[in-house]
Amino acid sequence: MELYEAIKARASVREYSGSPVEKAAIKRILKAGTLAPSGKNGQIWRFAVVQKNKKLLREIADCTVYKDFVRAADCLICVYLDKEESYHYIKDCQAVGACIQNMLLAATEEKLGACWLGEILNRAADVRKLLKVDDRYELMAVIALGKPTFRKTPRTTRKPLKECMLLNK
Ligand SMILES: Cc1cc2nc3c(=O)[nH]c(=O)nc-3n(C[C@H](O)[C@H](O)[C@H](O)COP(=O)(O)O)c2cc1C
Repeated sequence: MELYEAIKARASVREYSGSPVEKAAIKRILKAGTLAPSGKNGQIWRFAVVQKNKKLLREIADCTVYKDFVRAADCLICVYLDKEESYHYIKDCQAVGACIQNMLLAATEEKLGACWLGEILNRAADVRKLLKVDDRYELMAVIALGKPTFRKTPRTTRKPLKECMLLNK
């Protein structure tokens, strides 16, 4: 898929068919994440992937108000920031954001449905306990991943570019 096409095609998908996602596709998505830029090439992103253990997947899903659709995902990619390797908090959070967007675009290329979950950060402590992740890692987001249903996701609107412009001299 051409890059602009993928950027346009990406949309949050919140309905999954229940079919399994290929392990190889998940690996390609994670690798795409690691190709993101990061301050000083620090690569402070870390991933906890939950796919096989459906009980654990449901327990993590239950940590967000969006649990109904998250429980139907086949895979959850929990994205962490390694605080011990971090050199500048804001810049490292931005790098993790770039990593997440790369993964969302890769999921689009793989014809998978994906949704960036931020609300779950309210229950980051519970997610940590479930995953048994050390507290040097801070949860940045969870990506819900699954084969999409045939129903087309309605496109969200965007502000006209003019409204986003502060200056163009
Ligand atoms: C930081 C961040 C947090 C988000 N958290 C959630 C979330 O918790 N639940 C959810 O359903 N969507 C979440 N989203 C997805 C947004 O709702 C979505 O990107 C936005 O409405 C635009 O729609 P689109 O992704 O289809 O273009 C989040 C997106 C971002 C970037």
